[in-house]
Amino acid sequence: MNNILSISHLYKTYQSGFKALKDINLEISKGEIFALLGQNGAGKTTLISIICGIVNSSSGHVFVDGKDIIDNYRDARELIGLVPQELSTDSFETVWNTVTFSRGLYGKAPNQAFIEKILKDLSLWDKRHNKIMMLSGGMKRRVMIAKALSHEPKILFLDEPTAGVDVSLRKDMWNLVKILKNNGTTVILTTHYIEEAEEMADRIGIIRNGELIMVDNKLALMNKLGKKELTLELQNPLETLPRELDIAGLSLSDDKCELTYRFDSKDEDIDIAQLLQKISNLGIAFKDLHTKQSSLEEIFVNLVNSEAYTDEV
Ligand SMILES: Nc1ncnc2c1ncn2[C@@H]1O[C@H](COP(=O)(O)OP(=O)(O)O)[C@@H](O)[C@H]1O
Ligand SMILES: [Mg+2]
Repeated sequence: MNNILSISHLYKTYQSGFKALKDINLEISKGEIFALLGQNGAGKTTLISIICGIVNSSSGHVFVDGKDIIDNYRDARELIGLVPQELSTDSFETVWNTVTFSRGLYGKAPNQAFIEKILKDLSLWDKRHNKIMMLSGGMKRRVMIAKALSHEPKILFLDEPTAGVDVSLRKDMWNLVKILKNNGTTVILTTHYIEEAEEMADRIGIIRNGELIMVDNKLALMNKLGKKELTLELQNPLETLPRELDIAGLSLSDDKCELTYRFDSKDEDIDIAQLLQKISNLGIAFKDLHTKQSSLEEIFVNLVNSEAYTDEV
């Protein structure tokens, strides 16, 4: 079996009656970097908390490397490292002791060389003798990651790893994920920063109001949903858009100096050459032309705001 994580028909209704997860089905293969993308309140932390055994599901199944997280909790949990969204690190302990202790909690034999490597990867080595409570927020977050990695988990969960952290930590985090990927560790991260998903993930799942509405390879997602944009910089400003160019998706910029045409990149009826010919027949000259593929950010915003969506909560 190649899947390190298998989720089927997972539901969560909180005691308040709130349906936080609805029929989540997801398979993650070994070594994959998966980004769970969704706005605040979408259900990301709930999903991770269930997988990690912190929150009980209402129904459904989760297997970690074939081990049921309820029937085989200890074995499943040992395979998981979790960096929670909320940090709890007001500790008098040193960085070194904290990370070493955490490894011990999972019954792993001490391995100083391994802990040293993690601390170095996370730029924490110089701080190993410092008390955690004296560290900056960014450093504390690194400690949380070191703790989560201390028992050599096969799958690491990063819940909003870079929310509110500085740029250097964000870059370090991206590097760390690359190192982990090379080691064969599976990484599942949640974020509402699209840029982050775009940068790191192999595959992306979009969660909206407790439903996983789309799971796809990053590039496929962009191709499938992407709109293209063709912009013509005009030689001379146009007063108004000529009637002949009253075409869906075509617009004149506010400064009257650009014509922009937005179209579906997979629509085979679109004939750009014909459009350009039409424009030039109208005596409209342009000095430059460029095209742009819509970013994941735009795709995401479109999806989340799509009219097809009816809020049943
Ligand atoms: N203990 C709880 N009781 C009731 N509702 C909760 C509880 N925890 C979370 N929720 C609700 O479930 C939804 C999903 O929350 P969460 O999983 O934290 O979302 P995300 O991590 O995507 O921001 C939110 O609307 C939140 O208010
Ligand atoms: Mg959350």
